[in-house]
Amino acid sequence: MTLNTEDAIGVVEARMGDARAELEALVRIPSISASPEHRATVRQSAEATAALLTRSGLENVHLASIDGSHPNVIGEWMHAGPDAPTVLLYAHHDVQPPGLVERWTSDPFEPVERDGRLYGRGSADDKAGAVAHATAVAAWLESEGALPCNVRVLVEGEEEIGSPTLHAFLTERLDELRSDVLVLADAGNWSVGTPGLTYSLRGLASADIALRALDGPVHSGMAGGAVPDPVMGLARVLASLVDEYGDVAIDGLWDDVRPLTPAEAEPIAGFDDTPEAFARAMGTRAGVQLAGDPDVPLHARLWNRPAITVIGIDGHPIAGSSNQIVARAAARLSLRLAPGQDPVRAVAQLRAHVEQRVPWGLELSFRAHGGAPAWETEPTGAAFEAAKRALRAGFGVDPVLMGVGGSIPFVGPFADAFGGIPALLLGPADPRSRIHGEDESLHLDDWRKLIRSEVYLLAELSETASRATR
Ligand code: BES
Ligand code: MN
Repeated sequence: MTLNTEDAIGVVEARMGDARAELEALVRIPSISASPEHRATVRQSAEATAALLTRSGLENVHLASIDGSHPNVIGEWMHAGPDAPTVLLYAHHDVQPPGLVERWTSDPFEPVERDGRLYGRGSADDKAGAVAHATAVAAWLESEGALPCNVRVLVEGEEEIGSPTLHAFLTERLDELRSDVLVLADAGNWSVGTPGLTYSLRGLASADIALRALDGPVHSGMAGGAVPDPVMGLARVLASLVDEYGDVAIDGLWDDVRPLTPAEAEPIAGFDDTPEAFARAMGTRAGVQLAGDPDVPLHARLWNRPAITVIGIDGHPIAGSSNQIVARAAARLSLRLAPGQDPVRAVAQLRAHVEQRVPWGLELSFRAHGGAPAWETEPTGAAFEAAKRALRAGFGVDPVLMGVGGSIPFVGPFADAFGGIPALLLGPADPRSRIHGEDESLHLDDWRKLIRSEVYLLAELSETASRATR
């Protein structure tokens, strides 16, 4: 059977209004996986995603999860025949918390368009990925009545909390998920208009540290100068975590960071005329220097080296403050890891480093969270070539092969579970998307191009080997 790709592309162009409405409906559901109060809402989001997949023409659509975890959504269309490869399309329907709602220009869960971008939590990370998969599938089934490949879709429900039940889920559902190539719409583009094809992700480890001085607050005039301030103690500990450049300075953490191979270093060197462009894209203020050892190329700092961030800090808010020494201060630390670093070892090193530096006998509590190792692959072979052609066709511009500093815990274990199948990371985000931040947004026209690319990609991948023929 020969399928006509241009007919399917025509359906995408005609259906973008519907796709947009589907996306807006999903963004209105606050599927915050980290928030216990939103458990029912995450389920509602899974159900809405399942309905979307069913409408797209996928079969056997159902919620699937390990007991007690947030629901994933699975669907499939397996009629392309045994010689055609099976492609697994991945996205996630859960989102990060909105953060401080008053810092958003508009309601995080009421999608609004401004200047060609759709604003809302999850608009780019990653509800646009889920709708992209559904729309690409629907375009083929509507125009041709068939897909060029066998397709499975998995829309995860707990990516933003580090995929804690991923291993159990994979083990339990191995046959239902078996595939020859993995396509993830959870990364992003090099810049607006220029697609990205991502070949590496950093790992992640995180922990909360709290320092307590007192049972309860005391007047700073009565006690200041004698009772130690836990916020100052915390500041001293935090300051010890970075060097003068802002590079991580945790004892022992660099021991297992290996130098870049020539194959890793060479493409990165090619980007290195862009620190100013990068700073502009990030919106750093005039005069702010980029962090990290200036002798290390910018993209090696972003993609291949560890970095530490304070993502939350507790003392007393300035508003409502009074002259008191607070009882306790705390910080949540997020540590990005280089390829080869073990998240468990990294947290142990962080803990030992902190324990040795707590001043004045303050009481330390240290709570580690789950982590994920980095992932990287060589961007060569038939699947990567197919993806390059598809992105070129969808965007009219060649993709940039890139690393990324973020993490997606699912990729490595999934690819490994099926014998090291290729993983192609595309996605709807771009450097201005502010994913995880206030005013997250999606560039709508690049999203259309991403969906076009997925339509081309399924056709291109149909030419690559299936398990039967490999
Ligand atoms: N979509 C992101 C990962 C990403 C970020 C890809 C930037 C490309 C560019 C993903 O949803 C994410 O945010 N992951 C978390 C992982 C964590 C919770 C284990 C992250 O990187 O913080
Ligand atoms: Mn994501």
